[in-house]
Amino acid sequence: MSEANILQDGHLEIKEHSLTKYLIFKRLCEGLKFIENKFNYTIFDCFAGSGKCILKETGEFKDCCILIARKTLKDETQIYGIEKHPKVFSKLKYYMKNYPNVYLYNDDCNKIIPYFETLIKKDKFIKPYPKLFILDSWAFESKWDTLNYLSKQPRVDLLINFNVFNFHRNWNSSFNNPSWNVKKLEEFIGHSKEGIFEKFEEKGKVPPTRQCVEYYIDRIKNELNYEYVGGMLIRQKIKGGPLYYWIFASHHIVPTKIIRDIMCKIYFGSRKEGNGISIKNRDIYYPINKFIIDDYCGYKKGRLCNFNDDYF
Ligand SMILES: C[S@@+](CC[C@H](N)C(=O)[O-])C[C@H]1O[C@@H](n2cnc3c(N)ncnc32)[C@H](O)[C@@H]1O
Repeated sequence: MSEANILQDGHLEIKEHSLTKYLIFKRLCEGLKFIENKFNYTIFDCFAGSGKCILKETGEFKDCCILIARKTLKDETQIYGIEKHPKVFSKLKYYMKNYPNVYLYNDDCNKIIPYFETLIKKDKFIKPYPKLFILDSWAFESKWDTLNYLSKQPRVDLLINFNVFNFHRNWNSSFNNPSWNVKKLEEFIGHSKEGIFEKFEEKGKVPPTRQCVEYYIDRIKNELNYEYVGGMLIRQKIKGGPLYYWIFASHHIVPTKIIRDIMCKIYFGSRKEGNGISIKNRDIYYPINKFIIDDYCGYKKGRLCNFNDDYF
């Protein structure tokens, strides 16, 4: 199973859980618009997709992140999109054609990002900072080397899809068939297989979701030197299985606080039987320098439990 599929005509097909990802992103764009006098972001969507995608459950068209960004941010904000798949790219071009300040590249983002600025500076003005790079790949297509390069650039924030479902699947495969997909896992994590296994307590066993994300977030903090890193878990809609974390990394507290609060509101605010989470509790349980919003507080029988302080 993958997070999204490419249909014959080039549209991406998504499932309902992706709507949560889009909602977080839309709210983030609204937040960035609010602070744009201080932080005037340029957006780079490195796994841009088809512009609009199709919701599997209903057949409806939904805006992908790049279109959400274009519709939400002010027209002057420059938006760069990279998409590797030619058919998906042609849909992307089609849906974005009437919008201002959108620049699209049909390429492999890992290849072009390191010389991206030289490439685009030739004919366009690109603001030096801050920049938000969206790395929304579903099967580890974004590479650690790319993240490492970006982390060395001034004022680059990252929004990353850490697919814990695929992490587990690759993990199983690497044990059962050591030559299969280990390289992909290593390139994504930026660590040798042995180095990865070393980190987990019960070697050889699939590590729990929470340990996987802690490990990845700690790498972003310690190896890439991002001061503020955090994210929220997105689950399958019906069975509730963990799919991926939407992770944000920044050198600046303001945008991080914005996305942390958006995630808390989306995660806790909508629980019917819960009371949401107070602002004071947010800072205690989800400190801005490292926050992981999932149901560590308990996930029972396919339903989210009430938020409960006793679990922490
Ligand atoms: C999870 S989908 C992106 C969804 C999109 N961000 C959205 O908002 O719906 C990943 C996309 O990245 C593309 N892709 C995969 N590897 C890539 C690469 N190395 N460089 C650029 N695009 C890539 C895939 O064709 C696919 O369209």
